[in-house]
Amino acid sequence: MKFFIDTANLEQIKEAQALGILDGVTTNPSLMAKEGITGEANIINHYKAICELVDGDVSAEVISTNFDGMVKEGEALAALNPQIVVKLPMIKDGIKACKYFSSKGIKTNVTLVFSAGQALLAAKAGATYVSPFIGRLDDISTDGLNLISEIRLIYDNYGFQTQILAASVRHTMHIIDCAKLGSDVMTGPLSAIEGLLKHPLTDIGLAKFLEDYKKGN
Ligand code: G3P
Repeated sequence: MKFFIDTANLEQIKEAQALGILDGVTTNPSLMAKEGITGEANIINHYKAICELVDGDVSAEVISTNFDGMVKEGEALAALNPQIVVKLPMIKDGIKACKYFSSKGIKTNVTLVFSAGQALLAAKAGATYVSPFIGRLDDISTDGLNLISEIRLIYDNYGFQTQILAASVRHTMHIIDCAKLGSDVMTGPLSAIEGLLKHPLTDIGLAKFLEDYKKGN
């Protein structure tokens, strides 16, 4: 299972990278705005900075909502660095643009996916990644994890190569559940990733080992 961090915060990206488990980064316009990164030139520079920090795929989202605009933006983003994955919204023109980019060998991530049917279309269009937003489904009393299972079943039925990128992951149990369900990738905040480290018995056990070591020295 690949681990992506879902942030535009360079310090958090560095921290996850230093842990040695990071496979990539996802961003979106809201995450950029949260870090105060606004304006085309600043956003482009920020993508470049993120690519320098990590080895893996970096999703960069287009803001156009029509095919021509998405193609223009996506081509410019993809030209920044081979690590860039063009992130496209799950709308009609987004699917057309996904097909365009996949036929040119440019990596894509179809985002804002909330149903199995949308994920099927993204796979048909040759998406590299599909991003079902599990946390936002949970927010409206719908089982986000069930969507991961449905997509896994459909993709396995037909051998689709599109990778399921569980997004809108909010906490550590989301990561564990996505791993059980066979999600190819998860993207979440650093806090959710670091939650995987924690167990009180580990802390108690380590304290005892160190205490016993001191007794013998
Ligand atoms: O990866 C998608 C993510 O950025 C959305 O997360 O927490 O805003 O639903 P959230």
